[in-house]
Amino acid sequence: MPVAPSEVDVSLAEEVTSELVEAFARLLPQLSPNAARLSAAELGEMIRAPGTYLLLARERPSDRQGGTILGTVTLVVFRTPSGVRANIESVVVDGAARGRGIGEALCREAVACAERAGADTVDLTSAPARAAANRLYLRLGFQRRETNVYRHVIVRPPCT
Ligand SMILES: CC(C)(COP(=O)(O)OP(=O)(O)OC[C@H]1O[C@@H](n2cnc3c(N)ncnc32)[C@H](O)[C@@H]1OP(=O)(O)O)[C@@H](O)C(=O)NCCC(=O)NCCS
Repeated sequence: MPVAPSEVDVSLAEEVTSELVEAFARLLPQLSPNAARLSAAELGEMIRAPGTYLLLARERPSDRQGGTILGTVTLVVFRTPSGVRANIESVVVDGAARGRGIGEALCREAVACAERAGADTVDLTSAPARAAANRLYLRLGFQRRETNVYRHVIVRPPCT
């Protein structure tokens, strides 16, 4: 069932707080079980980076205090020779809050944010095994493209 607009707020993260660090420590393992914990400095780097938008979904509480962070998405907008592109990255909603339309609300706001930032297209990738995510993207109007996705992993020598 889609989330009622009164239940959740989607907003841009503008500062690093202990709440933000805690939220990523809780959410990131639900996206990538082996992901390293994000430090406050790394989150600050993301928030300050031009063209990077860190969106947060918060429960809208009745007492007007800041609500719990239930999910997040990162949008990156950059110019290429063929146009202004946007990528949606790292979509995750807390397991206890899934199925309420929060992922949809986050992705819709990311697309709106990309449009405001001048993007011509919004791309994302999702492993086929992520069934709920793939259904969500198709439901939002994303079209599956016939293209290969490649990754080169940079191997660094261990610090001495
Ligand atoms: C993909 C994800 C972000 C969706 O978040 P969400 O808030 O549950 O999204 P929505 O409520 O808008 O829609 C989720 C779909 O899962 C279904 N669903 C219902 N209850 C659910 C539950 N308890 N748990 C998971 N999915 C549920 C919804 O019905 C909906 O299905 P539909 O598209 O066929 O209608 C979330 O499942 C998640 O964080 N998954 C793990 C990380 C991940 O795979 N991220 C995507 C990376 S590409």
